[in-house]
Amino acid sequence: MIIGSYKKNMVEKKAVIIANWKMHKTSREADDFVRKLASHARSIPAQVMIAAPFTAIAAASMAASGTNVLIGAQNMSPFAEGPYTGEVSARMLREIGVRFVLLGHSERRRLFFETNETIRQKVERAVVEGIQPVLCIGETLEERESGKTGQVLTEQMRACLEGLSSEDLRTLVIAYEPIWAIGKVAATPEAAEAAHLDCRQFLQEKWGEETALQTPILYGGSVNPKNIKELLKQPNIDGALVGHASLDVETFVQLIKG
Ligand code: PGA
Repeated sequence: MIIGSYKKNMVEKKAVIIANWKMHKTSREADDFVRKLASHARSIPAQVMIAAPFTAIAAASMAASGTNVLIGAQNMSPFAEGPYTGEVSARMLREIGVRFVLLGHSERRRLFFETNETIRQKVERAVVEGIQPVLCIGETLEERESGKTGQVLTEQMRACLEGLSSEDLRTLVIAYEPIWAIGKVAATPEAAEAAHLDCRQFLQEKWGEETALQTPILYGGSVNPKNIKELLKQPNIDGALVGHASLDVETFVQLIKG
């Protein structure tokens, strides 16, 4: 079953480009970056979002105020509040201007032992608190080579979105990031498109056509100013999650201008 894409079916949808700064940039550096980016904002044909480290969020949101650049976080506690040393809550993040949060990035799964169940709790918390969840999913090279990509992606989506209704998923964004492509070499546009189609079909089967069509599915993994255009030409690739190429403002502006 082939279904229509987000781009074709929704009028005037812009590509969604999210910068994932990972553990880079102090608040001063974030302020400087966002001011420079904002000076180009009017000529940018995309919805631009920046996932900043916790300590740079306040400065980045201040610099972004009055522009259409959205600031978000790279992680968030699944708990509302309480005795959770070292954790940062949704309410704390909202107050400093966070509009969205990356959840389940493969670096958090692999290096900080986050499971699908923890990620599910975080997605639920984000929905309850009105922060847009960007759920990251992706397969390892071994899983890809054994033909399991579609299965792995749908299992991650099923487990991380379990119990949520289509109404809950109104603001959901999916970021497909093949682990083997992050910081290495991007998937071909065709391989990425095939994975995106699997994701969209799963959303449709589980939550219906409307959810499937309104959910942007972004590609992440070595996106740069040279390969973005071909990736975004694919019918089911609605934007990109960009790590390395989002750190230098000139490179990033070049990338988002396509
Ligand atoms: P990359 O990172 O663009 O440096 O490959 C993407 C990501 O991990 O989100």
